[in-house]
Amino acid sequence: MQTNLLSALGLMACAAALAVSSAAQTSAGTPCLQKHGAATQLVVDDKPFLALAGELTNNAATSLEMLEPIWPKIVAGNLNTVLVGISWAQFEPEEGKFNYAQVDGVIARARENHLHIVFIWFASWKNGTSSYAPYWVKKDYVRFPRIQIGAGKTVSISGPVELLSTFGEATRDADAAAFGALMRHIKEVDGARHTVVMMQVENEVGVLRDSRDRSPAANRAFAGPVPAELMQFLESHKDALIPEFREVWAANGYRKSGTWEEVFGPGKPADVEIPIQTTTPPMSAYEHEVSWRQLHWPADEIFMAWNYARFVEKVVEAGKAGYNIPMFVNAWLQQPNHAWPGTYPSGGPLPQVHDIWRAGAPGVDILAPDLYLEFFDRVCERFSRGGNPLFIPETSTDPANVIVATARYNAIGFSPFGIDGNRPIPPELAATYQMLSQLSPMILAHQGSDSMTAVRMSEGDSPRTIGLGNYNLTFTYTGRVRRLPPQARGQVESSPPRLPAGSQPAEALPPLAAAAVVIAVGPDEYYFGGGGMRVDFAPNTPGPPNVGLGDVQEGRFVDGKWQVARQIAGDDDAQGEILVLHPDAILRVTLYRAP
Ligand code: DGJ
Repeated sequence: MQTNLLSALGLMACAAALAVSSAAQTSAGTPCLQKHGAATQLVVDDKPFLALAGELTNNAATSLEMLEPIWPKIVAGNLNTVLVGISWAQFEPEEGKFNYAQVDGVIARARENHLHIVFIWFASWKNGTSSYAPYWVKKDYVRFPRIQIGAGKTVSISGPVELLSTFGEATRDADAAAFGALMRHIKEVDGARHTVVMMQVENEVGVLRDSRDRSPAANRAFAGPVPAELMQFLESHKDALIPEFREVWAANGYRKSGTWEEVFGPGKPADVEIPIQTTTPPMSAYEHEVSWRQLHWPADEIFMAWNYARFVEKVVEAGKAGYNIPMFVNAWLQQPNHAWPGTYPSGGPLPQVHDIWRAGAPGVDILAPDLYLEFFDRVCERFSRGGNPLFIPETSTDPANVIVATARYNAIGFSPFGIDGNRPIPPELAATYQMLSQLSPMILAHQGSDSMTAVRMSEGDSPRTIGLGNYNLTFTYTGRVRRLPPQARGQVESSPPRLPAGSQPAEALPPLAAAAVVIAVGPDEYYFGGGGMRVDFAPNTPGPPNVGLGDVQEGRFVDGKWQVARQIAGDDDAQGEILVLHPDAILRVTLYRAP
């Protein structure tokens, strides 16, 4: 059984925030992570907080003026949090001279719109590359070295590429100094208000186009021993390690010392060329099926994970010394067609190297997936191992996924990417956010317990039964119809709805999955949020075999209090026999048993 390594870290995050409160004048209510049953939650102003978020496109916040029209859109989409990139280049255009205008402007406008902010520190790395480093960093390739790739005689691409190397100590120190300045400033302007609730440090780090850095400094380290501190961490957490990582170490006899290849197995052979950001070397069908969740060329990926983690840890330490709020890193995921390190950023915080990140960067609170893969649940599971709190900083706008993430995987937040783009925020997402925001006190109270789950169904799925509380609930898909965007509503039925530019007619879009939050709040009482399904109940405790619908109420939570909007019976529940869950509606249902 795995122990919860990161939930222990999560607990420490709150404790640490309190510990520094007197020394660094951190106010009460500073955002922190706190354990709640089996879950770890984000706590803001001393209350658990569910981030119903969206991430802006990369450069949106570089112009406060261009951001102006975006705020109403975000509010209309029912978001409570926005992820906003801060560019190191813009923040520190000259070494040691900081420009706080963007940060201050975003915080001010967020407050006016009753929103929270998660800033993304686009610094040494963004999608593996280094395009957000300041000009004074970019042009000094001696002080701020680049990685080198390609080593074999048959490899056509070889030499330095424009990715900063983790082996540049000056890079690390400059990045850390800037991030420290940023966090000190955020504390100064927001330490008492808590508009900013978390920080993402860097973005999708890792080596692209090769499985590891092959600069002289990197080669020397790779030929040297695995650092004793990493070996000690692995030894002392041996029984709790991520299984696919443990297998790799086991295959080498759990060696306690040696070079990276001796301890973890071979790196990439010199003559294998990585297809540039395309696909993997040829694989069998089986490999295609499983290879996106295994280690390949393990020594290379593990070596890079350690070196990125050590670098990021210094940046995080400097940031937390300025203002100690939760900090996370995000991963560009390995995928069936990008299964080998280097076709995705090698060394990023991917699940197979989470143990390395925990060892190398204990100050990082959350290892987060940028989740565009179709295996949504699988990825949530892999990012929840070892007690890692689930936060999804980038994903698509599928409303079923936010329901599943928060109610089944205890996510602390969900954030579709490009929320400011030129399409409207999908009305289904806005409606689901509205529903979840009403239910959030209840969802947060039940996270980490076995009294809540989520059900997702698609057209063609067979009925599914789950046991929750004193009943087995059988769900049958009934369908989910897309909503028209807000601008198209209210038009006369005879004219075809005019859709906003950039949007497709609903019938041209793939059908949406149906999904619902299900919460057992008492022995015979449930709340349901969302739907597109019907539910049948059967008892799973001794007693009379028949189950009847008692009260069925549709309603809403206002300031956390349940208000009944209408009572459902008769034709709307098949004369008391069938409960139908409608998308984005909230139902309170009581049951009774009869012989
Ligand atoms: C992943 C990156 O992290 C984002 O910054 C953005 O570039 C998206 N990809 C674009 O899809």
